[in-house]
Amino acid sequence: MTGVILTHDPSRPLAGQNAIITGAASGIGAAIARSFATAGAAVGINYHSQPEKAASIVDEIQQQGGNAIVLKANVSKEPEVREMFSEFVRAFGRVDIVVGNSGIQKDAPFAEMTIDQWQSVMDINLAGQFLTAREGVRHFLNQKIDADVSPAAGKIIFISSVHELIPWAGHANYAASKGGVMLLMKSLAQEVAEKRIRVNGIAPGAIKTSINRHAWETPEAEQKLLKLIPYGRIGQPEDVGKAAVWLASDASDYVAGTTLFIDGGMSLYPGFHDGG
Ligand code: BGC
Repeated sequence: MTGVILTHDPSRPLAGQNAIITGAASGIGAAIARSFATAGAAVGINYHSQPEKAASIVDEIQQQGGNAIVLKANVSKEPEVREMFSEFVRAFGRVDIVVGNSGIQKDAPFAEMTIDQWQSVMDINLAGQFLTAREGVRHFLNQKIDADVSPAAGKIIFISSVHELIPWAGHANYAASKGGVMLLMKSLAQEVAEKRIRVNGIAPGAIKTSINRHAWETPEAEQKLLKLIPYGRIGQPEDVGKAAVWLASDASDYVAGTTLFIDGGMSLYPGFHDGG
């Protein structure tokens, strides 16, 4: 079974398409999965350590008439990523969209950062993105373009961060991984555009999820965070979900190698509003 095409219903821009989303048991990944399902896609909800949360998102999507399955894999392990794609294709027949969303933080002052903190972030945030995208590209190259579904052979979206651009003291491993994601995305976009594979990125700012709970859970922390966000509110996972639908859909068919910042202006150097 695949997402059902309803003669190009504009409210279902991903109808007939099948999408794998990594790190989709919670936070931004879960919101992307929900938005994709609402837009008509069949979705693979990848998780690593939260099976119940992943299963409940699948239930929720199925109850609303959508198609979804759980996919267990550690994205930094090559055999697990390959098996995840095989399992998805066994269930839905083909893969049209891949969203690399898995990411972790292991924060530490630079002089205290351990090699384990460094390496685990690189493994998930960078090697995981490489393995996920590579498997996606391999599948896209082996499938025929189905013009009734999309003019593209496939779409890859890397979920990065404003910290692919904004340096972040105390988070050198994380910022280095996201800077890496940015040039991984652009280099791959340049390489495979001629194959009609569209590769783009999304750079979320401060989105209310568990990864940054300490930055918004008390009123004091929230006020401090809001100083960094010109638009005056903290982002919601759905803000990213909606952007991801557009970037995966044919509405963005001429967009390749771009990073969409979904950050309420966080990357506009707000400190310069009254300074400089
Ligand atoms: C980080 C969050 C942080 C946000 C803005 C994200 O990439 O994961 O912890 O709040 O960037 O700084």
